Amino acid sequence: MIFPEDFVWGAATASYQIEGAVKEDGRGQSIWDTFSHTPGNVAGDDTGDVACDHYHRYRDDVALMRELRLAAYRFSIAWPRVQPDGSGPVNPRGVAFYDRLVDELLAAGITPYVTLYHWDLPQTLEERGGWTDRDTAHRFADYAEAVHARLGDRVTNWATLNEPWVAAYLGYGNGVHAPGRRDAASALRSAHHLLLGHGLAARRLRPGSVMLVVNSSPVLTPAQVNDPAAVPGEADAAAVDRIHALLTRQFLDPAVYGTYPEEVLAAARRNGGTDHIRDGDLDTIRAPIDLIGVNYYNPCVVEAGPGLPADAAWPGSEDVRFAAADAPTTAMGWPIVPDGLSRLLVRLSQDYPQVGLMVTENGAAFDDVVENGRVHDADRVAYLDGHLREVWRAVEAGADLRGYLVWSLLDNFEWAEGYRRRFGIVHVDYATQNRTLKDSALWYRDVIARNGL
Ligand code: NOJ
Repeated sequence: MIFPEDFVWGAATASYQIEGAVKEDGRGQSIWDTFSHTPGNVAGDDTGDVACDHYHRYRDDVALMRELRLAAYRFSIAWPRVQPDGSGPVNPRGVAFYDRLVDELLAAGITPYVTLYHWDLPQTLEERGGWTDRDTAHRFADYAEAVHARLGDRVTNWATLNEPWVAAYLGYGNGVHAPGRRDAASALRSAHHLLLGHGLAARRLRPGSVMLVVNSSPVLTPAQVNDPAAVPGEADAAAVDRIHALLTRQFLDPAVYGTYPEEVLAAARRNGGTDHIRDGDLDTIRAPIDLIGVNYYNPCVVEAGPGLPADAAWPGSEDVRFAAADAPTTAMGWPIVPDGLSRLLVRLSQDYPQVGLMVTENGAAFDDVVENGRVHDADRVAYLDGHLREVWRAVEAGADLRGYLVWSLLDNFEWAEGYRRRFGIVHVDYATQNRTLKDSALWYRDVIARNGL
């Protein structure tokens, strides 16, 4: 299974998950500092205060990437390093870190893919309403423009938002993520304002290549998990379509076509109304983009659940039951369904044929242990191998797929799960900050060298 010659191989991380140094060089506070320092929000009350100390160890980390022969590295910028209060003049010492990182990557022959928003909203903006407030979208676009002005001479690959569904619905819907609010109407408003911020920012990132990164999953009935040919009954099919609209079409239809699925508008009408969607917004959101970034971990499994109320993370999901998949699981409890990835990529390439695709995250957490300086993470190798085969199948089936980035380069702060969940292909010993290449990293290095499996 050899991939196209220009296929991009890489790995991904995010600022709050790896950087640490939360008080250095004038960085402001983000909603994740506030949230993680509030007892009870994160497993073990872990915080990102130190994380992988990447802020100080970035040179060594880039050397590891080079050793693995990564062609691309996707990282995110901490907005409160650039603008400590979320607006106004750029903090030169904060942006200087990303200057150094970009230079280090380029010197190592690694192409930077920069994500502007991977969930660390400046706390000052949250106090003004956060993403429920329309102004945040404008502040985000100004921030994006400021970063582009500083790094745009060397960075060409930009992502506006990472997983706006998660930012809106876990942040403002069920409160599992920062800022920890629990209100369906706020979540729906936030989703719209995130999209508005995307559209405004996308226009300010030229010249450059722009992508929107979504957490997408094929939505399947329990029977379809192991039998792609299974045909659901009418009620189950309706549940599938509605959840697909709420998860994926909510973001990609406005971004690509300038329209909202009816299911999203219906959910808003039942939860606070649609007044926050103003005339012209959808034209703004439909800014030309070059790529859709796809983060895939597992399918979403649903069936009809007559009479069930909506899940807190899914306003509009009344009468739907979220079901378990008949499949083995990772340490996160997420079902391992590799061909979910090819089913998803083929569908996205059919629904949004004018936009290229990139797998911007894929990977798995397992309970790794270091033994004699090695980490034998056979489960992760199997997970990655199985999913890469499906990526190849999607390419064969004609999907316009440009690359694949593993989540994650390093073990890191896994949000509400803290440090107990390890997604890295490189092990991090948090007591010493020692890095150890896991077997999966060595395996991935060979995949890259061969350009395939
Ligand atoms: C997607 C998110 O973008 C990333 O931050 C997170 O660590 C992984 N999923 C794993 O949950």
